[in-house]
Amino acid sequence: MRVCVVGSGAREHALAVALARSASVVVTPGNPGIAESDGVDVTGAPPVEVGADLVVVGPEAPLVAGLADELRSRGRRVLGPGRDGARLEGSKAFMKELATAAGVPTAAWASFGRADDAVSFLRSLPGPYVVKTDGLAAGKGVLVTDELSEAVADVEAKLSGASFGEAGRRVVVEECLAGVELSVLALCDGERFVLLPPAQDHKRLADGDLGPNTGGMGAFSPVPGASDEVLGRVVDEILEPTVAELRRRGVDYRGVLYAGLMLTEDGPKLIEYNVRFGDPEAEVVLPRCTVDLAELFLSAADGRVGSGDVPVAGAAACVVLAAPGYPAAPVLGGAVSGLGSAGEVEGVTVYHAGTTRGEDGVLRVAGGRVLAVTGVGADVGEARSRAYEAVRRVGFEGMQLRTDIASTAPSGEWPGAKEGAR
Ligand code: AMP
Ligand code: GLY
Repeated sequence: MRVCVVGSGAREHALAVALARSASVVVTPGNPGIAESDGVDVTGAPPVEVGADLVVVGPEAPLVAGLADELRSRGRRVLGPGRDGARLEGSKAFMKELATAAGVPTAAWASFGRADDAVSFLRSLPGPYVVKTDGLAAGKGVLVTDELSEAVADVEAKLSGASFGEAGRRVVVEECLAGVELSVLALCDGERFVLLPPAQDHKRLADGDLGPNTGGMGAFSPVPGASDEVLGRVVDEILEPTVAELRRRGVDYRGVLYAGLMLTEDGPKLIEYNVRFGDPEAEVVLPRCTVDLAELFLSAADGRVGSGDVPVAGAAACVVLAAPGYPAAPVLGGAVSGLGSAGEVEGVTVYHAGTTRGEDGVLRVAGGRVLAVTGVGADVGEARSRAYEAVRRVGFEGMQLRTDIASTAPSGEWPGAKEGAR
């Protein structure tokens, strides 16, 4: 089987490596790390022009723009929802409305296009305050703050278009949920789904869960607290009703449905949906899967994925290395060293996120997140120490990373840490 992966980040690198275990893989447009992976080609050709039995679309933006519809209209088999299903990520107001209609537990919310309405709603809340852009903002459109004045300023900057352009012209204001976060990825075939192993993402920039929200600074899997009971509730109370509501609205959702969850005292609640693999979640979820992923993805694209859990083994931890100035204003161009040595650490794969190789042959920083270093091992502790051993061998000027990935839950204690985890 030949699989085409669309995208150019560490998620797509992890997809390419995982798929190359059982298929030949071509990635468009890819990156220098992907180009050097065994069994993987890269091409600059647009996805519609790449010959393949299956197309896997990595990022959300092309899905929201309708790439999967275009490919399907040409008879291609695709893992990724059409424009209708991708609205779950493309519009937070749509996602909240659908979740509410489906009876899915989620934070109380309201959406606004006018600043004075949003501000008077904020003033009526006890805080902390959560303000989100309605549209896509690369994981950076969410403010969570205790300060009313900061929330008001954020609403005004978003709605005026100053901070996120058109994506911020509508905002969603939410109740703040307390608990531990969990990412659960389901592979849907339009009607049913299988569960990939759950993961936890560290969203804040700095150790101790401090600093601004980012696209994700690291992840690990399995997750203490993600017990069979918790995952059963996620399936019954969140994923099943969502897929049923999508079908009721005529949406044939074939792709990854990624539920960002808060495990609260009242049970799991939905924070958000993404319509693709998480990044860096993919970098810890995919290496743990022991099935033929090309066949599994094709079965979802063909509407015959079935149900249950994808078989997994071991554990994985991923540490993201980010550019100086990330996330606000990444400084690009620094030379990256030590990758050869890092890749020699047992159980480690270095996925490229934002790199470029100039005519001088030197690998340089070309994006906010630069590398995603994944270690696999028998348990999260071993996976984590392997990843950090490799990280110590890599360097570029101003490199930012967290030193506490997979050592503590981002939001504090792990509830039910002694229960079984998947
Ligand atoms: P999102 O892009 O919607 O996943 O939000 C990014 C991050 O903001 C989440 O991973 C949470 O850490 C935080 N967040 C979003 N919504 C809420 C909420 N209602 N309550 C508490 N934290 C939230
Ligand atoms: N890691 C969060 C995301 O992929 O949206």
